[in-house]
Amino acid sequence: MNTKTTTTVPVITIDGPTASGKGTITRLLAQRLGWHILDSGALYRLVALAAHKHSIPLDDADSLQPLAAHLDVEFAIDEDSGEIVTLLEGEDVTQDLRSETCGNDASRVAQIAMVREALLARQRAFCETPGLVADGRDMGTVVFPDAVLKIFLTASVEERACRRYNQLKDKGLGVTMRGLLDEIAERDARDRGRAASPLVAAEDAVQLDTSELTIDEVVDRLWSLCQVRLN
Ligand code: CDP
Repeated sequence: MNTKTTTTVPVITIDGPTASGKGTITRLLAQRLGWHILDSGALYRLVALAAHKHSIPLDDADSLQPLAAHLDVEFAIDEDSGEIVTLLEGEDVTQDLRSETCGNDASRVAQIAMVREALLARQRAFCETPGLVADGRDMGTVVFPDAVLKIFLTASVEERACRRYNQLKDKGLGVTMRGLLDEIAERDARDRGRAASPLVAAEDAVQLDTSELTIDEVVDRLWSLCQVRLN
């Protein structure tokens, strides 16, 4: 896999397992810095949704590769709510994208090296001035190995299941705590155990266990690290 990056735009990578708080922390840190965001998981989720739409099995690498390479996606702002709306081939998939089923399907297509390779250029294209905060599993190890600051967030399975339960309940998506615990453990195993870009902290990443920390505490710690690394 090509691991070279040529950009001089500063990148902060935030990797970690499912429901470790990466999405929220990435958004808040990027807001403080005034930088762009890459939600790389959304791209894998979109490949999984596109596969369903075109009746492609989630292990059919030869069909998934061109699908990932030519994904027709648009991110727009809803004028009423101010929220980001995701359009896949012109269809609003914002709600479907966040379901646990979609996350699990994403983790299956993400096992395929050809799919990962096909998404590489698209992810790097998010790198624009003044900077990028990139959220995922392999941001620090593969996609942006030259990042100025690499963070690896963790939290216990129980804490992560609890956070995801509250998140999905707030969105009105039906889940049970038992089901979530099982799904998260299964997804962790698949993400850590795969051959292509497994979930692992980069050697030079700062690891942070967020089990006992509030969101604001995590953002404050990362902000302090930014003061040191960006100056
Ligand atoms: O929000 P959550 O952490 O549950 O998932 P996500 O970040 O949206 O990612 C969904 C799935 O995509 C993960 O379980 C990974 O298998 C895969 N993924 C990946 O392999 N590499 C990335 N850079 C991002 C996501």
